[in-house]
Amino acid sequence: MLIKKRRRWELPDREATPEDMFLNRRQILAAAGLGGGLILSGAVPHVAGAQETSPIADLFPAKRNEAFKLDRELTPEDVNARYNNFYEFGSQKTIFPIAEEQLKTRPWTVAIDGMVEEEKTVDIDTLIRAMPVEERLYRHRCVEAWSMTVPWTGFPLKALVDYARPLGSATYVRFETFLDASMAPGQRQVWYPWPYVEGLTMAEATNDLAFMVMGAYGKPLRNQFGAPLRLATPWKYGFKSIKSIVRLTFTDKRPVSFWETILPAEYGFWANVNPEVPHPRWSQATEQVLHTGARVPTLLYNGYGPEVAGLYTGLEAEPLYM
Ligand code: MTE
Repeated sequence: MLIKKRRRWELPDREATPEDMFLNRRQILAAAGLGGGLILSGAVPHVAGAQETSPIADLFPAKRNEAFKLDRELTPEDVNARYNNFYEFGSQKTIFPIAEEQLKTRPWTVAIDGMVEEEKTVDIDTLIRAMPVEERLYRHRCVEAWSMTVPWTGFPLKALVDYARPLGSATYVRFETFLDASMAPGQRQVWYPWPYVEGLTMAEATNDLAFMVMGAYGKPLRNQFGAPLRLATPWKYGFKSIKSIVRLTFTDKRPVSFWETILPAEYGFWANVNPEVPHPRWSQATEQVLHTGARVPTLLYNGYGPEVAGLYTGLEAEPLYM
């Protein structure tokens, strides 16, 4: 007989709060301590009909994979959609109007190159339609010590790796965001090492938790979330979850990320969540839940230890938590 053991961070469906059961937005944000000009009132404006007319609109809502559930309620979409890190559009959290207005997500291609059987460039919609799309409820823990919980729609990164057909000698995947300063004003700030780059080991990339995201809250991904395609690696600090991806390169050289290039003493390659290893400038012991303002303990690997701890056996000498 197969007995399914519920994981620590899972909760039954009946306890997951649907997206439309928000508290009053002002109360939420006031409670979260995110005032001081950061908060605008009213619904987040977005390009009228952009999601309804998306070429992948028919893929939504995708079936939820019940193996991925949460130990806390979902972050309301409207809170998530107005509090983002997307430096291509500025270093403030309120980049959503600029991203909504200026990021053009079609036409869009994804290049697959480096150590693969055959390099190729594929149209985003062709790629997505070749993938096993599903919804997963994931936690997200930013290195800045705030957290949220999101219903992502996407497909396992492993499916994309299989599609890419890497050579056996490839040991890392390097991800790259678009580079186009004409639509991303942040990229005119030449002191940043654009484009945004991230990387995973092949073992991490083929772990079941590594997820490519093309939707959220039952709709095609909004621009500020990193449309049309981003990564979600929920056991790592949020900066690993690179947005608006245009290239995957399979390589045997460890990628040096955007943040590692800027501040190597603070942001490393591994960036696994660990409450006991402080950031050089602040504690990582707790996190502020974005929509309630509650401060809760941070969990090792953001609560996903049973799924991913085995990836790091034998790597204890590495700086796994920065
Ligand atoms: N990807 C790109 N291309 N540019 C960015 O500035 N910020 C990262 C990550 N991916 C970032 C990025 C950081 S620091 C975090 S916490 C998450 O995106 C934020 O995702 P969210 O805005 O959907 O919450």
